[in-house]
Amino acid sequence: MRVLETAQQVREWVKQLHAVHGLTIGFVPTMGSLHEAHLSLIDISRQRTDKTIVSIFVNPAQFSPGEDFDSYPRDEEADLELCRERGVDAVWLPSVDEMYPEGFSTYVEVEGLDTQLCGASRPGHFRGVTTVVSKLFNVVQPDVAVFGRKDVQQARIIQRMTYDLQFGIEIILGDTLREVDGLAMSSRNVRLTPEHRLEAPALHQALSEASSQFQEGINEAERLLETVRNRIKQDAPSGKIDYIQLVGWNDLQPVEHVDTKSLLAVAVRFGSVRLIDNIILEK
Ligand code: PAF
Repeated sequence: MRVLETAQQVREWVKQLHAVHGLTIGFVPTMGSLHEAHLSLIDISRQRTDKTIVSIFVNPAQFSPGEDFDSYPRDEEADLELCRERGVDAVWLPSVDEMYPEGFSTYVEVEGLDTQLCGASRPGHFRGVTTVVSKLFNVVQPDVAVFGRKDVQQARIIQRMTYDLQFGIEIILGDTLREVDGLAMSSRNVRLTPEHRLEAPALHQALSEASSQFQEGINEAERLLETVRNRIKQDAPSGKIDYIQLVGWNDLQPVEHVDTKSLLAVAVRFGSVRLIDNIILEK
């Protein structure tokens, strides 16, 4: 497995594979602290392409002042070992100085899709994500890139950006992987206290309960949202609800009834750890 540090090294590796050997390249961008859910995205990339590259970069531009940039879990050695074991062909470890050189002043923003859900409570977050992902895409120029469905708003925004900016990259969404009690896997889970860890599965249970109601014929947003709210309040009393929203899949705007594919999504803070989860409602 190659460990690449500079954009130039990545460009040379990619050029060799693409132009000289005619191979396809799959890309899994990450912020490290890899767990089974990241590895499942790597598996998808390996199944779909000849060579897989993973980037590991905790992107300062997507954290607001006061968010958990400094305490975001980092373990480069363990990440590299996991990538090696999983058959990754190259890992790119960009530096902050190379990604954001002095005077950096160019940002990529997808309008409209970031007004609700995490976009409302984390202003500037998605601008940081789309800026770094477009820089990573420009350097790697993959055929396929794989993102997790847990960060569904991020995935939808990246799909839109890729289409609008004609990157010519196929974006694949990997399913959310869960612990046995239903908690969505996340790098932030390790920072939950034991008490919060016990309460955290309530997010998935609440969404599943509303999804069952929807399958039984209830499609009014208010009733489904109330089910989620009540279940979280009851089973995760120390969680602070950031949002519970039901939005359309295409425009990510609130809906009153579920008539077409929609997204029921939650964000809850347990102390300084903010967890998100979602479920798709579709007949
Ligand atoms: O989902 C993540 O880990 C990050 O937001 C991403 C896509 C790697 C951009 O920094």
